[in-house]
Amino acid sequence: MSAEELRSAVLLGPMPKHIAIIMDGNGRWAHARKLGRYQGHRAGVDALRRIMRAGARLEIPILTVYAFSTENWKRPQEEVRALMNLLVEYVDTDSEELLSQDISVNVIGHPEELPLAARQAVHQVCRRTRGRSRRLNVALNYGGRREIIDACRELAAAVHKGELAPEAISEEMFARHLYTAGQPDPDLLIRPSGEMRISNFLLWQLAYTELYVTPVLWPDFDAKHLYEAILAYQSRDRRYGGLSKGQAEDSLC
Ligand code: FPP
Repeated sequence: MSAEELRSAVLLGPMPKHIAIIMDGNGRWAHARKLGRYQGHRAGVDALRRIMRAGARLEIPILTVYAFSTENWKRPQEEVRALMNLLVEYVDTDSEELLSQDISVNVIGHPEELPLAARQAVHQVCRRTRGRSRRLNVALNYGGRREIIDACRELAAAVHKGELAPEAISEEMFARHLYTAGQPDPDLLIRPSGEMRISNFLLWQLAYTELYVTPVLWPDFDAKHLYEAILAYQSRDRRYGGLSKGQAEDSLC
């Protein structure tokens, strides 16, 4: 099927409100072409641009992309620097397009620990794009375990001050202390490059998310791959731990 045919098919089904993506495989893509890892990350930014455009056409309300994890600091300094430079460049070249797509950029993680230029770029794009109807969450210096610990600390502090009873802590309250407070959990997680891991991404929020893993490397990922992922999502039976109608009619014994 052509991309347009796939897109038309996608429009017939329920549209995910929130899609999360682990942008993986940049290094392998570059290696296969005898290019430096930097070129792979640069091609990864092009893929992000394509997916933002396809997502905008489908009017997906929220896209969350994993751009830099708390573990990525372990990479060689040169690669970390290259990723930060790409982030600054992306803000510089793509802010206007994000505005024209009616997108607010929001950072989840700890951007205050990023190098100054990256921090400034992030601050600027978030401020410029505030209040738009759709959202791009960029996970930067993000770790799912750290996010949960941050939420625990906030709640523990409120308990310590006598402002909160421990038994009043509910799942809903906990979620309000996550970086994604006020946003629905992802309906769909896309992981390119074939790895079967969550990699410390949105650990709480992915509890009932549909997972879609594809061998396609992120720099090769395009609108067609996005439509295929959404079609797979639309074919799933989301039961949230309950039973589907057919199953509920089966006898227990
Ligand atoms: C994982 O691929 C990818 C990353 C650690 C960085 C993702 C970043 C980008 C796509 C570009 C920067 C983002 C923005 C928002 C400008 P990998 O290097 O681990 O690939 P490999 O597993 O094949 O080595």
